[in-house]
Amino acid sequence: MATVDLSAYGEEFTADPYPYYAKLRENGPVHHVRTTKDSEAWLIVGHGEARAALADPRLSKSPATAGFQMLDEQVIGPNLLVLDPPDHTRLRKLVAGEFTGRRVEALRPRVQRITDELIDAMAPHGRADLVAALAFPLPITVICELLGVPAGDRDSFRAWSTEVVAPTSAEAESEAVHALARYLDELIEDKRCAGPADDLLSALLRTSAEDGDKLSAAELRAMAYLLLIAGHETTVNLIANGVRALLGHPDQLAALRADMGLLDGAVEEMLRYDGPVETATVRFAREPVPVADVVIPRGATVLVGLGAGDRDPARFPDPDRFDIRRDTAGHLAFGHGIHYCLGAPLARLEGRIAVRALLERFPTLSLDPDAGPPDWLPGLLIRGTRRLPVRW
Ligand code: HEM
Repeated sequence: MATVDLSAYGEEFTADPYPYYAKLRENGPVHHVRTTKDSEAWLIVGHGEARAALADPRLSKSPATAGFQMLDEQVIGPNLLVLDPPDHTRLRKLVAGEFTGRRVEALRPRVQRITDELIDAMAPHGRADLVAALAFPLPITVICELLGVPAGDRDSFRAWSTEVVAPTSAEAESEAVHALARYLDELIEDKRCAGPADDLLSALLRTSAEDGDKLSAAELRAMAYLLLIAGHETTVNLIANGVRALLGHPDQLAALRADMGLLDGAVEEMLRYDGPVETATVRFAREPVPVADVVIPRGATVLVGLGAGDRDPARFPDPDRFDIRRDTAGHLAFGHGIHYCLGAPLARLEGRIAVRALLERFPTLSLDPDAGPPDWLPGLLIRGTRRLPVRW
């Protein structure tokens, strides 16, 4: 099978990958692709095949399967996204209870208050970069409060974390991972010295102190790393991509304004139509894995196209239409299987509260017509822009 060089498509592909995925899908649900100058993978673009791959135990999350370690795994420690059972099961159990629908629902008043304060600060100006004003500060404030991370650290933390999920160069990525490792070490040391506190990081610290075999020091650091990064680098783009889609489709915007009962479905459609995670984090074939009429060879890197799968016309009719009333069941924005997003209830809560508050407070909200072209984040992992200029 010929290799498709995605790295040659350049900025046009980064800005709108969906037509490219549709073309690939016409020729089959899986393709061998070049993602950068020196990396190749098998990319799954069909919905059914993507969903099956996400739950397929023959596709390991551990890079050791392919004989290497990820940079962050080496420097920070093994997190849930580079582990298979039984380690994955043991570590996920330690945090799963914190993110259930019921636990997250208890955060509603706090999420609402943070949102209201951010919108109050925006209101007098008549225009804003929605990313800087709301989409970023809301989720990062929530996840930092949950974990017990001081507010003052957020800006430096953010620059490193964005570099990790959407690297601009190998050197910058490496610097960011090392900076995050030093930062997390200091944070954990401060928590250790400060004594018992009512936050998730302190609770995890107690777990590792009392029962060393439950959580090693590297696992603790890696858990904090994953929760902090996953807790905001994605939700920021649910809010920003979602609001961009909504404001770009005046009929859908009007329908939602007329009936806020459509809000939950609208947020699901935002996740399907232009979700924050374009391809799932990498998987590795433990053995030859047949997908349709292709066999992915042992040791190969596999990328599951969540954005591509969610635009598959075989699953979602007329998939390029943004339609807040459509049936979005089975969308892949939060993944599927044992690595299904732990934070999905929290992300939904934040997304729904943010969109509702924006529409209620700014009846004339629109995309800023003077803004230049959107500055899309590089890479295949995260789909989002650095800024979203809006007016009201
Ligand atoms: C709209 C926002 C979000 C989206 C679209 C999203 C998407 C995803 C996806 C697709 C995966 C699976 C990756 C894979 O299988 O390769 C995942 C896993 C994960 N997410 Fe999220 N996420 C979001 C928000 C959050 C939040 C707020 C948290 C914070 C608590 C979070 C924590 C995690 C964790 C810890 C995992 C790893 C789970 C595991 O490996 O067992 N996510 N997320």
